[in-house]
Amino acid sequence: MIPDPPNAQDLLAWYDRHRRELPWRVTPDMRAAGGVNDPYHVWLSEVMLQQTTVAAVKAYFEKFVRLWPRVEDLAAADVEDVMKAWAGLGYYARARNLKKCAEAVAEMHGGRFPETSEQLRTLPGIGDYTSAAIAAIAFDEPVPVMDGNVERVISRVFRIEAALPSAKPIFRRHLATLTPDMRPGDFAQAMMDLGATICTPRRPACALCPWRDSCRALQEGDPELFPVKAGKKAKPVRIGAAYVALDGAGSVLLRKRPPEGLLGGMSEVPTTDWTSNRDGGTGIDHAPFAADWQPCGTVTHVFTHFELRLSIYRADRVEQDGDNGWWVPVTKLDGEALPTVMKKAIAAAIPDAFKISH
Ligand code: ADE
Repeated sequence: MIPDPPNAQDLLAWYDRHRRELPWRVTPDMRAAGGVNDPYHVWLSEVMLQQTTVAAVKAYFEKFVRLWPRVEDLAAADVEDVMKAWAGLGYYARARNLKKCAEAVAEMHGGRFPETSEQLRTLPGIGDYTSAAIAAIAFDEPVPVMDGNVERVISRVFRIEAALPSAKPIFRRHLATLTPDMRPGDFAQAMMDLGATICTPRRPACALCPWRDSCRALQEGDPELFPVKAGKKAKPVRIGAAYVALDGAGSVLLRKRPPEGLLGGMSEVPTTDWTSNRDGGTGIDHAPFAADWQPCGTVTHVFTHFELRLSIYRADRVEQDGDNGWWVPVTKLDGEALPTVMKKAIAAAIPDAFKISH
């Protein structure tokens, strides 16, 4: 028997009772009083949430809104300060585009975000997903908004056997048939919340799902098999070494990465190239300068296109000002634009570095 098709009203009724309270969403009280989602908040949260979890983003979002309450404030900010505030969120090109987009909104649109997905897509760093999400959530445009959570829900409800990513257009067509003209923004967020809290990748809580009577995968008893994904290739491995130099006063030597490319413009401890298995070595003889380098184990970090394995070395009482760097007290490392891989490298050499930094 084919179950009744899923319907947006059932999902919206569930959302009204079980929505997650998130700092960028208007509260139900504010909404009852006619409040709407602030486009600046929606945009900021959506850019932060690309490739990052809600749990990780909350504190960053609150910090950004505290430092730069309006899009014009962010547009006028020093890019170095924006990079520092972003440090740890990853995918640093997003932070640069964030600043460029704030400038475009402030300078070309008088500080107001354009209100359609088509116009939003013309802004720096805003692609198909983000333009649809902002248009739906901030301006109630009835467009389908599909992220990974939503893909999972759709794949199960319609029991789509075609594999992602090539089956995306099929998923999008199904989602478009469900997206309502009324409350499309709430519908989009309800789909995301359902995917994040009920329709989870493993052990979904189907008994609590507002669409349990409509879900074809549940009817067949196999929701965990969906979505079907084309076989993933293992990521290539790159290796290298990172050198944590300390002076006699407890400061660490940092330097700045080139402005373009991976982690562009962020801070780092001196490292070899990250292809040192091919064009060099990872030992103390490849350090940027001679010192009493001691091995401190290895650190692994997974980037989008490769896995990096770094050998970590530490030297104490280093005196030279080598490698165009600057010295930072260990207690002040949190104020630097250090990406997560560099925090891991420093923590391998100085285990309590980020516990005492403030
Ligand atoms: N993931 C991306 N955008 C989101 C949103 N607005 N609500 C919940 N999860 C999300």
